[in-house]
Amino acid sequence: MVKSWWKESVVYQVYPRSFRDTNGDGIGDLKGIIEKLDYIKLLGANVIWLCPVYKSPNDDNGYDISDYRDIMDEFGTMEDFDKLLDEAHKRGLKILMDLVVNHTSDEHKWFIESRKSKDNKYRDYYIWKDPKDGKEPNNWGGAFAGSAWEYDENTNMYFLHCFSRKQPDLNWENPEVRREVQELVKYWLDKGIDGFRMDVINMISKDQTFPDGVKAEGSLYGDKDPIVMNGPRVHEYLKELNEKVLSKYDIMTVGETPLVTPEIAMQYVGEDRNELNMVFEFEHMDIDRDESKAMKQPFDLIKLKKVFTKWQKGLENGGWNSLYWNNHDQARVVSRFGNDKEYWEKSAKMLGTCLHMQQGTPYIYQGEEIGMTNVHFETIEDYRDISAINRYKEEVEVKGRDKDSFMNYLHELSRDNARTPMQWNSCENAGFTEPEVKPWIKLNPRYKEINVETQINNPNSIFNYYRELIKIRRENEIVVYGKYDLILEDDKEIYAYTRTLDSKKLLVICNFSKNEPVFNLPEDIKYNFSQKIISNYDVDDSKIEKIKLKPYECRVYMLQ
Ligand code: NOJ
Repeated sequence: MVKSWWKESVVYQVYPRSFRDTNGDGIGDLKGIIEKLDYIKLLGANVIWLCPVYKSPNDDNGYDISDYRDIMDEFGTMEDFDKLLDEAHKRGLKILMDLVVNHTSDEHKWFIESRKSKDNKYRDYYIWKDPKDGKEPNNWGGAFAGSAWEYDENTNMYFLHCFSRKQPDLNWENPEVRREVQELVKYWLDKGIDGFRMDVINMISKDQTFPDGVKAEGSLYGDKDPIVMNGPRVHEYLKELNEKVLSKYDIMTVGETPLVTPEIAMQYVGEDRNELNMVFEFEHMDIDRDESKAMKQPFDLIKLKKVFTKWQKGLENGGWNSLYWNNHDQARVVSRFGNDKEYWEKSAKMLGTCLHMQQGTPYIYQGEEIGMTNVHFETIEDYRDISAINRYKEEVEVKGRDKDSFMNYLHELSRDNARTPMQWNSCENAGFTEPEVKPWIKLNPRYKEINVETQINNPNSIFNYYRELIKIRRENEIVVYGKYDLILEDDKEIYAYTRTLDSKKLLVICNFSKNEPVFNLPEDIKYNFSQKIISNYDVDDSKIEKIKLKPYECRVYMLQ
């Protein structure tokens, strides 16, 4: 297998708005990230993925960009950014920027021009269509409720926005758009950044016939996703970007790609493809949700094992996985797949182990390393996410769904679960901002018990456990490059697998339940001696034939 620095890296994702506020406006900023670089370094991550910091009117918290070459006012200035990059590099930390080029803000100068007239030079930068029978050009629904088309009186045409109406989709069919993107990518790479996370990058090529989507029962709109994802020219566009710009730098790229299978993913990340290094797949995070109905589904470990194993095996020859539980779009994993009450600490450590021992590059989302949990906002007024707010209107006010049932869905799966301020200490506002300031979004009240300050010096904390996981990866090639194999595939409570490299084997055992199941070592696993390298309970046991596991227990052994 080809070795690369980005395969050996551990990424820490920062959502700047909620990380650390230094100027008392209740919104995190770049100076706040600089202040916390030593913290990220201490954790042991070596790459930071910054969610968008570009100029933006913040309809979707920075994923609606109005100037790709400037910094969001609330976050600071370009000098602050340069300082951040410099300070990060001084500490051996790399910086990945978020590249959001499926769409811009409607306040971007290209769109302001584009909507002025049909013959404007920028008209064709976006996707404009005539009305069909006096209505929208097709039945597509937008990701944040409502139609994906917005009528513009000025020219009597509709423009496409797969996300909010303030996020018009760029028209990648236009070579000028592709040239603009190549130039802005080059601008940031020439500044010295170390790569990109590419927002919904598999949506950039649209089927030019714009067919209707299938309408699910109870849905007001057709499902555009299978049509807009992995479109006809997406690989051509990525290869072009790679050839003209990306390939000239020693960087790391990861594409966000909903609706991909390992086979499709290989077309993006295969070593011979010259497109991207990795993608973020969604299958493992979709096992407990039905988004078309905005409903949570029960967690099913067998399903999770199947999905992870499919990805581990599917990419093991010539591809590479990205490993994640959390990000700014996902509810907190300890509340979702773990137990955020009596087994909060044990299950957070177990989940970290289960993920970090797999093959791929791990991504840790801010607060995950201290076991931050979901928040239960009482009313819709406390939510800030455009997706939660718009969907509430559509589900409760338009379709008449029971309010409590929808609020339950938000409690379990809303993106705002991940966006509450980082919990640094137990003071008022948790050290995110000054005590007298009102943060842009409410804190999770559990900050008094769950925060960095109480964990950093506690050797048994989740934080120090994550440090250990990262250290194990750094010290053992097998964790990075070893081959993955699932064992005990039918066990409903235990997720166990091995990793193999040369004569070594790593055995990973994770109990996903609050029961005490017995782990039986499969007979075909042969070894001369075993050594425990990490566990979330105090065990000095090196016997691995029959282990009665405690609730949410995990253990990792090196076998030789
Ligand atoms: C994916 C991003 O992660 C999400 O936060 C955003 O709302 C959409 N793409 C649109 O940019």
